Amino acid sequence: MDSNKFGKLQQQFLCCYPVNKMAWSTLELPLELEAQRALIAATCGHPLNQRYPVRRSYQEAFVKRLMHLLKDHEELHDDIYDSLCGQLAKATIDASTTTAASQYAYKHYMLLPDKYITLRESTSFVSEGTTGLCTWEAALVLADYLLAHPSLLQGKNVLELGAGAGLLGILLKQPALQLPVGQVLITDGSAACVQLMRENIALNFDSDPSDAATPQCAQLRWHEISQFPWSQYAAPDLLLAADVIYDDTQFSALLEALDAIYELRGNRCEMLLASTVRNVDTVHEFMQQLEQHRYQVTPCANVSACASHFCRDHTAAVQIVCIKR
Ligand SMILES: C[S@@+](CC[C@H](N)C(=O)[O-])C[C@H]1O[C@@H](n2cnc3c(N)ncnc32)[C@H](O)[C@@H]1O
Repeated sequence: MDSNKFGKLQQQFLCCYPVNKMAWSTLELPLELEAQRALIAATCGHPLNQRYPVRRSYQEAFVKRLMHLLKDHEELHDDIYDSLCGQLAKATIDASTTTAASQYAYKHYMLLPDKYITLRESTSFVSEGTTGLCTWEAALVLADYLLAHPSLLQGKNVLELGAGAGLLGILLKQPALQLPVGQVLITDGSAACVQLMRENIALNFDSDPSDAATPQCAQLRWHEISQFPWSQYAAPDLLLAADVIYDDTQFSALLEALDAIYELRGNRCEMLLASTVRNVDTVHEFMQQLEQHRYQVTPCANVSACASHFCRDHTAAVQIVCIKR
């Protein structure tokens, strides 16, 4: 059996891509028993999923969808039934306990064949008072953009604001990608996010957290920027932020942080800001405020043409702008 036969479905399954949008058309039906077994082994049975399982309800939906597709088959492989029964049994346990464990699950983002970033993420979009405990589309788009333009990272110390679960910083320091980046510091204002980022760094790097080969992590609330201990970190050359301008009540704090960082660096830094355009007026308002603060804002060209390393939804437009002063 071609080991890569179910590669796309496997990639999508491991990062919980919506079941109804998966590449089911790549299955050549009817699926013989051995192929059914191999598909379950490549998804629910994948070693990463065995060790760090994706959301239980997602696995259940995946197996049910597969059974539906195979409904006219004379026989289903036992492993399909076993997977479903296993998920249903865990659902019963989840329903009887509301432990933190059931509010978090893992996602595995494929960078290269057989090279994944594993992140622990919240199963809710908003929890513990923050939107940052899961990875958002804008972070994936910015990751693709940086992978397509590695020269933007050449020798630069990177500071990420509002880093959430930490995908971007973890990706930039992946040894397998050999990106030419300097030090990477990922920050967020939420203590829960900082704790999650630390866990996710530990999941993806063997080395000591103080090692320059791993991303560093710190709490940075934008309105408390003046208290940030800059002397402990490399001066940032490149600022990154993804999906941080959805809430206009935070604009003045974010601008205060940018002003302080650009001042600290004598304007010898620039920022890449990726935003999902949910509300054109909100994005426009922030761009205007940037200009009032004497920043030059240039849209990055051909963002949507960058090769996509991730399973992205593509339903919402994501724009990236470069901010200089
Ligand atoms: C929608 S999430 C995006 C997370 C991540 N960048 C991504 O795209 O997956 C927005 C993040 O900004 C952080 N944030 C919002 N307001 C903040 C503030 N005033 N100071 C620091 N971080 C803030 C939140 O805690 C959250 O992690």
